[in-house]
Amino acid sequence: MPVDASAFYPADPKAAAHALNPLAATMEGSRILGIAYQVSAMQAEGQEVCNLTVGDFDPSSFNAPVALRARIAELTLAGHTNYPPADGVPVLRQAIADFYAERLGVRFPMASVVVGSGARPPLYAALRCLLAPGDVYLYALPSWNNNYYTHLNGAKAVTVPTRAEDGFMPTAADLRPHLPQARVLHLNSPLNPCGTVIQADVLAEICQDIVAENRRREGTGQKPLFLIYDMVYWLLTYGDATHADPVALVPEIAPHVIYIDAISKWLAATGLRVGWGVVPAYLQPKFKALIGHMGSWAPRPEQMATAWLLRETRVLDGFLDELRGDVRARLELIHRSFSRMTDEGLPVEAIEPQGAIYLSIRVNLIGRSLPDGTPITTNEQIRNYLLTESRVAVVPFQAFGLEDETGWFRMSVGAVALDELSDALDRLEVAVRKLL
Ligand SMILES: Cc1ncc(COP(=O)(O)O)c(C=O)c1O
Repeated sequence: MPVDASAFYPADPKAAAHALNPLAATMEGSRILGIAYQVSAMQAEGQEVCNLTVGDFDPSSFNAPVALRARIAELTLAGHTNYPPADGVPVLRQAIADFYAERLGVRFPMASVVVGSGARPPLYAALRCLLAPGDVYLYALPSWNNNYYTHLNGAKAVTVPTRAEDGFMPTAADLRPHLPQARVLHLNSPLNPCGTVIQADVLAEICQDIVAENRRREGTGQKPLFLIYDMVYWLLTYGDATHADPVALVPEIAPHVIYIDAISKWLAATGLRVGWGVVPAYLQPKFKALIGHMGSWAPRPEQMATAWLLRETRVLDGFLDELRGDVRARLELIHRSFSRMTDEGLPVEAIEPQGAIYLSIRVNLIGRSLPDGTPITTNEQIRNYLLTESRVAVVPFQAFGLEDETGWFRMSVGAVALDELSDALDRLEVAVRKLL
């Protein structure tokens, strides 16, 4: 009979806070996952829920390229099972540099590339390497996970609210007053949660401001301002929307830009864990050291297979065309349905799909009443109502730091089939009409 270790664990709910350091004791898990658990509990009871919450793909609707999966299996069987270099296998680092030269029109040296297990380790490494406790971390709201990264680094968040008419992207004028104090500015395009892209002229203006700010700091002893440009969805854009690149627009920003990227989203490969940072080469050794200390590199077969696929233009573009088409069909379905409801006078709206796997939708039931007569004052009430009444699960912008109770939500379409989505939108409309 094995010893039951759990019999010795403390029962006191405060034991964890007592045992942990203050940073860990106050650390929070993702709010989005909290909603996802509620959905799972309903599903476990046998309820059919249309889950538009998680920024992931359901492999029954979307899967990573079959050629990539086959290659990973082959490489694993061939015995590529030892440690990779902490900053990635050279064939992948070179393939990424060449891929950017070809598709972004910017040539980075291989020495700039640092590979990790997905986008998160290089993103965390960037913040860990740049931010000291109390440093200002500047980002726009809504944004994905920056609140947690601020906390983990003991940084001071300075946040800038954005507006629906700007696609919830910040403008240069929004950011300008905060640049002199900031150490790092974070931008994400296409944007999680909104599914919108930053316009090239807006990005260019922001980059010019950063270059000017760094000129001002020269010789003052003040550390430079960096831009972290998170572009994990950059190959998923739709219609007229295009991806804008900071260095292509304003080359002088190159010493102060960190790109964050991964195959997670644009190859529908969230579980394969291959991501990277492209960072100024003079900083890369510290990123490498940190990724090495955490052991958060990507597995060797995944890295080698990704290196191969990045050079297989025909296979890659064929896959991307299909993925974009399938994701866009879902986003367009929601957008069309919401546009019709808007035209019919319902208090809803949606922003046209531009990128990523998300759509910003507004279900503005604030000021109305729930069926039991309770006045609706919060997005959380609307979210809960839509979930229980129409079995449609969405994430309020509060989970991305935007606290306005204005009825804005993220819909994520990676885990939903088209017919299921169509039925869900019908149910949602019935639920909204019920409260008018
Ligand atoms: C904007 C953004 N950056 C980074 C990531 C993390 O990507 P990965 O799963 O490769 O760590 C996500 C995941 O949802 C994301 O939305």
